[in-house]
Amino acid sequence: MRRWRTGNLRDVSEFPTFVTHLECSATGERYPADVLHGLSKAGKPLLVRYDLEGVRRAVSKEALTRRDGGFWKYREFLPVRRSSNVMRLGEVITPIVELGASARRASAKRLMIKDEGRLPTGSFKARGLALAVAMARELGVTRMAMPTNGNAGAALAAYSAAAGLEAHVFCPADTPEINVREITLAGANVTLVDGLINDCGRLVAEGRERMGWFDASTLKEPYRIEGKKTMGLELAEQFGWTLPDVIFYPTGGGTGLIGMWKSFAELEAVGFIDSRRPRMVAVQASGCAPIVRAWERGDDHAELWPDAHTIAAGIRVPAAIGDFLILRAVRESKGFAIAVDDEAITAALTEVSRTEGLLLCPEGAATYAAWKAALAAGDVSPDESVVLFNCASGLKYPLPAP
Ligand SMILES: Cc1ncc(COP(=O)(O)O)c(C=O)c1O
Repeated sequence: MRRWRTGNLRDVSEFPTFVTHLECSATGERYPADVLHGLSKAGKPLLVRYDLEGVRRAVSKEALTRRDGGFWKYREFLPVRRSSNVMRLGEVITPIVELGASARRASAKRLMIKDEGRLPTGSFKARGLALAVAMARELGVTRMAMPTNGNAGAALAAYSAAAGLEAHVFCPADTPEINVREITLAGANVTLVDGLINDCGRLVAEGRERMGWFDASTLKEPYRIEGKKTMGLELAEQFGWTLPDVIFYPTGGGTGLIGMWKSFAELEAVGFIDSRRPRMVAVQASGCAPIVRAWERGDDHAELWPDAHTIAAGIRVPAAIGDFLILRAVRESKGFAIAVDDEAITAALTEVSRTEGLLLCPEGAATYAAWKAALAAGDVSPDESVVLFNCASGLKYPLPAP
């Protein structure tokens, strides 16, 4: 059995789990739990469903608040059945940092950043891949393959190394060098692809049968979203079981946004929060904004964005399989989608660094630039409390020359 690396040993007892089944996100068709799944028969993401009445009886807000163990503490809301399948690399509850000076400057009530760069491998991808690897072990998978813009590959490589799984990672040839080295160091097999993340995804899909890989592409396997969902659970707890007025999320595949939206429904069903929801804002780069275009047109699905380019590598996703789920969450929440250009992203990165002493990743900086633009346009009110997501450590990216 693998070692428990870190974490609080009081909290690693067997996981009481409440998964009842999986459900096609498009048709609602039911699929059995405890069986290896990719997409549904309709070719759409599968969502994990729980006996939420059982969760309500098993855990209280007070009990959760007393627990340690990073995002694993929300185990009743997660699908892992055996604790021996969980690898711990020092997961933490990520801090919410007040951007007081920036808020004052804009005469805004409250601006905060949830800083996901503090997680293992320096990004929020740790959440999803920790869950995907645990479930892969649970369901007997030994070889994982995945397309990535960098951060997800690093997280897959790290958790796979800890779990003793084989990992095959495909990334665009211009993926930040630090990510490629990090993935290689953790022993994963890296293939650099002359193309974008969707081209990488195609290679994974083509090699799946022949190479015996399990395709761990986001939303093509059902558990990464369960990991990303913990951002919403954490946020609710950190806000004293309420939620901020608006969330700005840097949106590539959109798994985090969809996951948080799912978590809010689950939290309401167990009685931990009421029916008030944040407005969800999908932030993209103007060089790759398929969701923004679809939102503006009122479409349910997003068309492939040609010639995608942006310095914010993590949101350079020309086509997302969960497009309709992102758009649905944005609309249901009465939020919106907004694009910012690379110049605004770089300016935001510098501004937050200088004003707040916080080094953001370009994707996180995009959310700050988007907040400023939305405030100026009147799409966000200065009276609204706002949380921006900084999904990775700024240190993982090439920094501007002094
Ligand atoms: C730093 C960063 N921000 C945002 C994203 C987009 O995340 P999601 O797939 O949940 O939209 C990524 C994905 O690679 C990322 O690495």
